[in-house]
Amino acid sequence: MGLALQMEGVTRRYRLGADNYVDALRGVDLSVEAGDMVAIMGPSGSGKSTLMHIAGGLDTPDSGAVWLEGTRIDTLSDRRLTALRSRRIGFVFQGFNLLPALTALENTALAGQYGGMSRRQASRRATELLALLGLGERARHRPSELSGGEQQRVAIARALMNEPCLLMADEPTGNLDSATSAEIMTELERLNREHGMTLMLVTHDPGVAALCRRRVEMHDGSIVGDGGGGRVVSAEADA
Ligand SMILES: Nc1ncnc2c1ncn2[C@@H]1O[C@H](COP(=O)(O)OP(=O)(O)OP(=O)(O)O)[C@@H](O)[C@H]1O
Ligand SMILES: [Mg+2]
Repeated sequence: MGLALQMEGVTRRYRLGADNYVDALRGVDLSVEAGDMVAIMGPSGSGKSTLMHIAGGLDTPDSGAVWLEGTRIDTLSDRRLTALRSRRIGFVFQGFNLLPALTALENTALAGQYGGMSRRQASRRATELLALLGLGERARHRPSELSGGEQQRVAIARALMNEPCLLMADEPTGNLDSATSAEIMTELERLNREHGMTLMLVTHDPGVAALCRRRVEMHDGSIVGDGGGGRVVSAEADA
């Protein structure tokens, strides 16, 4: 299998004022094999979300390069990038970002329409996905009428609408109790195993990270550890 994602020498500086800035990424190299399941870990402020945003083409690096399935994305026009993103990547953010006025079904189906499906196709697929995620009975509920875990599953259904090759999730279990968190992880693992969907997820939860084949550890804008098979190889611990 090829690479789902490749980043080379990626830097990102947030400018806050004339001489005031934060180096959120300081030269990140990262390759992710298609079909892999990768946890991105590290303390608050270490650059995990910034990394995910750039990897998914939601933000562009100041220097370096990013390829998604072999296509260089940091130099694409906005229009082509948006098209590529909606067809190939699914995003699940902490806080869900569901539209409050729409039902679970409508929230999910909308992503399909953005991805080029007809209204009917989108509605049919959204219904199937919600059922698959155990929300068949909740399809007509609005976000405020759903539990945190249910909302998170709607966000996952929405992210899966266009059959992304890569699912990026920023703390998908962040606000959930441990039972719901385990449920969500079982579902993500299944999608990875059965559909070969590449998974990158940011997590603070060692239990969630332990389910991933690979764990990447960030610190202060750099990758300081990268390993699998039950342990994180930490550059700092060896120093
Ligand atoms: N839009 C922004 N403008 C200015 N600085 C930012 C912005 N977004 C992030 N930063 C800064 O960049 C650094 C990395 O932030 P990032 O959100 O990537 O961290 P994180 O590892 O995801 O943290 P957390 O675990 O708290 O979500 C932090 O110092 C943060 O304050
Ligand atoms: Mg973050």
